[in-house]
Amino acid sequence: MAGSRLELIAPEGPVLLVGARASDDLSGFDPASAVVVQGLRPDHDSLKARGFRVLPLLSDLAEGDAANSAVVFLPRARALARARIAAAAAVLPPGAALWIDGQKTDGIDAALKEMRGLADVDEVHSRAHGKIFRVTVPSGDWLPEDWVARDIDLGGFVTRPGLFSADGVDPASAMLAAHLPERMPTRVVDLGAGWGWLSAQVLARPGVEALHLVEADAEALACARRNITDPRAAFHWADATTFRLPEPVNGVVMNPPFHDGRAADPHLGARFIRAAAGLLTGAGRLWMVANRHLPYEAALNEHFAGVTEIGGDTRFKIISASGARRTAAPATRTRRR
Ligand SMILES: C[S@@+](CC[C@H](N)C(=O)[O-])C[C@H]1O[C@@H](n2cnc3c(N)ncnc32)[C@H](O)[C@@H]1O
Repeated sequence: MAGSRLELIAPEGPVLLVGARASDDLSGFDPASAVVVQGLRPDHDSLKARGFRVLPLLSDLAEGDAANSAVVFLPRARALARARIAAAAAVLPPGAALWIDGQKTDGIDAALKEMRGLADVDEVHSRAHGKIFRVTVPSGDWLPEDWVARDIDLGGFVTRPGLFSADGVDPASAMLAAHLPERMPTRVVDLGAGWGWLSAQVLARPGVEALHLVEADAEALACARRNITDPRAAFHWADATTFRLPEPVNGVVMNPPFHDGRAADPHLGARFIRAAAGLLTGAGRLWMVANRHLPYEAALNEHFAGVTEIGGDTRFKIISASGARRTAAPATRTRRR
């Protein structure tokens, strides 16, 4: 895929690989002269294991980290794509090569057209249902100001472009919150906590002594930290599917993802269900919301003794499950950010 296009270019090092995923073929890059920017924990860890220095956020780049070129891996969300290009351009000197790689389905043709109106573009290569091209970074301000990612203010919560449900509360999470009990268990985990709205609803109910927010996306978790300053909250930048705590908890809430990047992954939600069971005591309870068409019943019945649909509509179902059957899950390292 992207790898077959990447082998067509020879960026001058040190090179920044902004948004590269574990599935991208980076074999043409020398880990000694490439820095990857990737905030999704599973991808971050996998690229790190291949020897790359991997930064969760571009803002983690240190003062002395001069880059001579960058490759931006284009995401589908337009605001995020523009923000990624602007952020990469901002750390490159004038005259540097800013390569942009992407699939047709992620809007690479529109990006090429747009960039041609803003800077010199050459070396356009088409391959494998996508394109890669080189932009020479001009001097001075050359990108529209609104390309730079800014906080989205939702009144009491901040989010960032490209995050899940960045422009407002997700209706499925809102429905789940409305079905949570009046009083919550003492120790709760929010798996896939995003920018923290659901967690805030949990903390607003009596009973909670500790709440663990588990989120794979470093930028979403950074927002959650800003949105939730309650001392009962602990933040874990981690893959929820392998997340473990030293002690079991008695409540888990979740609105699990069912997409990994551009591909729908029906198994991801099932892995969240298994992880939830692994975190709970036998007397603990899971509350989750899912799109009605998603077939989670088999996973729920495999990992919980009691599974009840407690609400929903034609779009979503709210499920409560108890009697967790704990199965061994692979251990993972977690890092608090
Ligand atoms: C449907 S959203 C729910 C977000 C939040 N709970 C809410 O109610 O708005 C799912 C979240 O799971 C996160 N996520 C995806 N894969 C993950 C993984 N393997 N581990 C942890 N979080 C993950 C996504 O980044 C996203 O924030």
